Amino acid sequence: MAPAAPLVGNWNYPTAIRFGAGRIRALADACRTLGFKRPLLVADPALAKLSMISDALIALRKEGIEVALFSDVKPNPVAANVEAGIRVLRAGKHDGVIAWGGGSAIDAAKAIAFMAGQTRPLWDFEDIGDWWTRANPAAILSTIAVPTTAGTGSETGRASVITNTEQHTKKVIFHPKMMPSIVIADPELTVGLPPTLTAGTGMDAFIHCFEAYCAPGYHPYAEGIAVEGMRLVKNNLARAVKDGRDIEARGHMLAASQMGSTAFQKGLGAIHSLSHPVGAVLDTHHGLTNAVAMPYVVKFNRPAIEDKVVRLARWLDLRTLTFDGFMQWMLDLRREIGIPHTLAELGVKAEHLDRLSEMAAVDPTAGGNPVKAGVPEMRRMFEAAVSGRL
Ligand SMILES: NC(=O)c1ccc[n+]([C@@H]2O[C@H](COP(=O)([O-])OP(=O)(O)OC[C@H]3O[C@@H](n4cnc5c(N)ncnc54)[C@H](O)[C@@H]3O)[C@@H](O)[C@H]2O)c1
Ligand SMILES: [Fe+2]
Repeated sequence: MAPAAPLVGNWNYPTAIRFGAGRIRALADACRTLGFKRPLLVADPALAKLSMISDALIALRKEGIEVALFSDVKPNPVAANVEAGIRVLRAGKHDGVIAWGGGSAIDAAKAIAFMAGQTRPLWDFEDIGDWWTRANPAAILSTIAVPTTAGTGSETGRASVITNTEQHTKKVIFHPKMMPSIVIADPELTVGLPPTLTAGTGMDAFIHCFEAYCAPGYHPYAEGIAVEGMRLVKNNLARAVKDGRDIEARGHMLAASQMGSTAFQKGLGAIHSLSHPVGAVLDTHHGLTNAVAMPYVVKFNRPAIEDKVVRLARWLDLRTLTFDGFMQWMLDLRREIGIPHTLAELGVKAEHLDRLSEMAAVDPTAGGNPVKAGVPEMRRMFEAAVSGRL
């Protein structure tokens, strides 16, 4: 057998990606490529305390790049975080953004860079129809993204998920120019992610690929990327959860995460439709919520996706090449990496279900679900997921 290729590369789609252990050393070079002289580095408060950030600030300043830090970003970022960031960005006359962290920090950072020179409010750019054309593209600052989780793939995506606290809703803000110009994907930055978050974020990557693969519509590029992304998760997620220092498993998970967001240009589905309202109302972790909801939605979608799932089972090299074999594998993986079985364990109660079902039915991802799901169907899936009935 030929030796495996080293896990390093410079990739040019969906954007410029510098991939591999130690590649964070290319950050100053990336700033020079984009002409950043005074970038704003956006992270969250927990990350801002880690040495990876202070090391980066020192390294950039040594190269004459006058970087500043903004870290007022909460997990599941809210509009107030974006507004505060815009104020800092404008006051400091920053000329670019370094988006450093998990999906929360990267989403907030991308929204700050996007809003740098816009005159309309953030919610005018929600991902509805052609609302993105309202933006002035010349006023959008470039972004360098540095992911520290492997799940959302926000670093290779064209959207940010920001919570509207007045409406208790997660809104998707979209513009094609929100795709970061350069991504530095260094798996060494993910080794400190604790097992529970490794599991939840890793399942988010799998579910992005899975929902994109199952979404209706013709998009063979997306489907090809999705199936290989799922194979990488199948072979590496449990390894990364068990041993966070397994740099090979971490590397494959980071690639799979980016493949997920690349693939979901095709669409997502009801796993995300259930998880978005739960995250907005109960502030649960996004990937973990998806991972809990997944089997109930997959079962609901069975009539529309059975053939595709059997085809997928062959590519994943599962033991039993049937729909039930896939379900069993998924449940076993969830158990192995410590994902709870019910939404009740995340705090969802019967009294939440009316509101959550209504929110799920109008979530923008609901349209991509392979079986049409309105309020009653969403409620049925929620009831199953709260009670654990499959
Ligand atoms: N833009 C998109 O396309 C997209 C897709 C899916 C999800 N999202 C959004 O992304 C957010 C979730 O992002 P996430 O799952 O990456 O989690 P996160 O960014 O919320 O981070 C979770 C926690 O992990 C910590 N953390 C991150 N990296 C770490 C590391 N290397 N070591 C130690 N701790 C670390 C953070 O400080 C934080 O406390 C949600 O708001 C979700 O809605 C966006
Ligand atoms: Fe997601």
